[in-house]
Amino acid sequence: MNVLVFASRKGGAGKSTLAAHLATYIAEHSNSTLLIDGDPQGSLSLWHRLRGEEQPALKTSTRSLGQTLERAERDGVEWVIIDTPPDASPPVAEAIRHATLVVIPMRPGLFDLAAVRETIQIARDLGKPYAVVINAAPARRGRQDDAVVADARGALNGLKAPVWSGQITHRPEMTLSLSYGEGVKEYGARSVGAEEIRQLWLALTRTVDAVQAAYRRPGTRRVDA
Ligand SMILES: Nc1ncnc2c1ncn2[C@@H]1O[C@H](COP(=O)(O)OP(=O)(O)OP(=O)(O)O)[C@@H](O)[C@H]1O
Ligand SMILES: [Mg+2]
Repeated sequence: MNVLVFASRKGGAGKSTLAAHLATYIAEHSNSTLLIDGDPQGSLSLWHRLRGEEQPALKTSTRSLGQTLERAERDGVEWVIIDTPPDASPPVAEAIRHATLVVIPMRPGLFDLAAVRETIQIARDLGKPYAVVINAAPARRGRQDDAVVADARGALNGLKAPVWSGQITHRPEMTLSLSYGEGVKEYGARSVGAEEIRQLWLALTRTVDAVQAAYRRPGTRRVDA
């Protein structure tokens, strides 16, 4: 079982948005997906009520997270996606402790970078692989990153933080789809947003495969994504 934990101390970075889009994308290919809404704000629970469908399954983390995950594993769940609140509270650290990979969404910008450092530090302290995902970015021109994204990448490189080479662009369909209880691919199968989520999913699965392979090798304690 693979556990993706969406974490960032910065509110509005896109944790719940990316968690919902990815979970619907994965659920299309497998029935064994579980979303855990670990944020008392309940963003994903609200979206799931609007959705009115069982897949992807959603649980709020009222019981101990460890027990919920043990049960999911027994039930044959393949992918667990955990959304967390925008802070560095013990429940966030607890979720990160259970992560196969910590996904840290970040809007490109100075204040966002400052907040992300703290989340990176928690992942590092707990010896957990993590990757920063640039979200809500200005559109690329051809293959060229916008200046604000290039700047953010430079700063993240300075922190030696692994960053996804792609980006999730700021697009109306990323928000509108959620208002209908949908994922972006369900809302617009040929939309740019759907393609970007597909690319993100490919990158995350490759990273998770590498992490799992490294943990299987004797003597390996930690891997950076
Ligand atoms: N790529 C995007 N394009 C357009 N809008 C986006 C994008 N990503 C996020 N948003 C919008 O930004 C707002 C904040 O996103 P979201 O709620 O997912 O952030 P969050 O990190 O979960 O915030 P919080 O920490 O408060 O839970 C939402 O209104 C969401 O629809
Ligand atoms: Mg949220």
